[in-house]
Amino acid sequence: MESKRLVVVSNRLPATLKKEDGEWTVKAGAGGLVTAMAPVLKNRGGVWIGWSGSSDPTIDVDALLSDFSDEAGYDLHTVPLTKEEVDGYYLGFSNEIIWPLFHDLQTRCKFDPQYWRTYLDVNFKFAEMVARKTTPDDYVWIQDYHLMHQAFFLKSMGVKRKTGFFLHIPFPPPDIFMKLPWRWKLIQALTEFDLVGFQTLQDRENFAECLRRLMPEAQFEGDGGVVTVDMGNHQFRLGAFPISIDFNQFSEIAKRPEVAEKAFSIKEALRHRKIILGVDRLDYTKGIPERIRSIQTMLRRYPDLKGRVNFVQIAVPSREEVDDYKELRTEIEQLVGRVNGEFSFPGWVPVHYHYKSFPHDELVAYYSAADIALITPLRDGMNLVAKEYCACNVTEDGVLVLSEFAGAAAQLQGEAYLVNPYDMEGIAKALHRAIHWEKDQRSAHMSKLRDQIRKNNIYWWVDSFLQAGISKSLGDFPEVAAMKYERG
Ligand code: UDP
Ligand code: G6P
Repeated sequence: MESKRLVVVSNRLPATLKKEDGEWTVKAGAGGLVTAMAPVLKNRGGVWIGWSGSSDPTIDVDALLSDFSDEAGYDLHTVPLTKEEVDGYYLGFSNEIIWPLFHDLQTRCKFDPQYWRTYLDVNFKFAEMVARKTTPDDYVWIQDYHLMHQAFFLKSMGVKRKTGFFLHIPFPPPDIFMKLPWRWKLIQALTEFDLVGFQTLQDRENFAECLRRLMPEAQFEGDGGVVTVDMGNHQFRLGAFPISIDFNQFSEIAKRPEVAEKAFSIKEALRHRKIILGVDRLDYTKGIPERIRSIQTMLRRYPDLKGRVNFVQIAVPSREEVDDYKELRTEIEQLVGRVNGEFSFPGWVPVHYHYKSFPHDELVAYYSAADIALITPLRDGMNLVAKEYCACNVTEDGVLVLSEFAGAAAQLQGEAYLVNPYDMEGIAKALHRAIHWEKDQRSAHMSKLRDQIRKNNIYWWVDSFLQAGISKSLGDFPEVAAMKYERG
């Protein structure tokens, strides 16, 4: 059967509702999933199913999101969730169990059995919505760890759909995954998708190893980028598909005169000192405290850099209801204060810290202005910020200093300056070296990084997934003019 529509299902929609000064407003969703998926569905007349970000039953979510939907050129369907469901499924199971566990931070996990039960209930609710809003002709593409039971529930309801699943975060090795009390049920549910995609070959291998241990009947066939797994009663496929960005879009925005001017004014405000930039959601996986300590180590070890560099950290508010995130914010703010207190002198403050989300153009201006991007997650599925920085570095004279534990390192390792995010002295040394690199050296690396990301962009990613899933490419879901497409 021909797949007619692309249906994306994720916990977070590209537009989410936030209450500001007592009024509900529509905001762009935060994080890499939304950045990556938004251009894929744009004007395809498809469907995006997800949660609106609000659990207030009194608001008319569809009315609030309808302008966004018209402009985007696809339908948005929201799955309404109560406060209890959000607490158990999103804040609880997704963010206090799977998120830390899959990022190798198992000591942060709160293995509450009630979280698991709510996770299943909400996955069932999502699957009901998917069943209702799709037809057997659609390709249903489920995103991320919040929704790992979608294929399982669709099948148990007798709903036949072609399904693909992509995990945006890492998949842990068996010694970590095995700590999950519900490990068998979770891995079994993943085998029910037709295709399961991971960010890196290492993630795919970790999953395969867990599957071999928990379900020894699984037989693996093939050894290419995508392998088939025979479960006895059905088969599914596994692949590694490193996600990316709309390279040209970022690069074009960086070239706009008003954005270049904004970048220049950032440099001017910082008196043309070297700018080291960090951009992350405020998340404990991103290694922000370790990074600030590395800046402190750098200034202690290399006093010649005092007054010559600025570290700018953009921390986007995220999951503010979760205690670990609240504590992290306090820790970061105290550290920034400590480092500035230690080194500042009249006319120079080493660390500039912004706790807010930036408009797209302004973010691009920061990327363009930065001499060095310091991206040091303790563990990360991919890290799109690393790719965005390179796309925006149109002058090709910036340096990407990247954690070896980011998924992006597997692709960018030849040209990025790789560091261990826990090694403060190593990072300090890398920064000192990078600051002294000649222009030729910086350009040689940056132009190769840009070539690689330009080629392996978000459209390459979606085509590779769709080819593996349904032997199609994005072009097979033709673009429609926004506002003119027919709603299903
Ligand atoms: N980002 C944003 N607003 C900001 C700063 C960053 O929307 O003020 C975006 C950034 O452009 C990137 C995403 O947040 O696309 C972060 O994605 P990444 O893969 O680096 O990490 P994630 O947040 O998904 O863990
Ligand atoms: C990461 C996850 C996404 C998530 C995003 C923002 O990118 O992989 O699934 O949407 O973080 O987190 P939030 O909890 O705000 O959706």
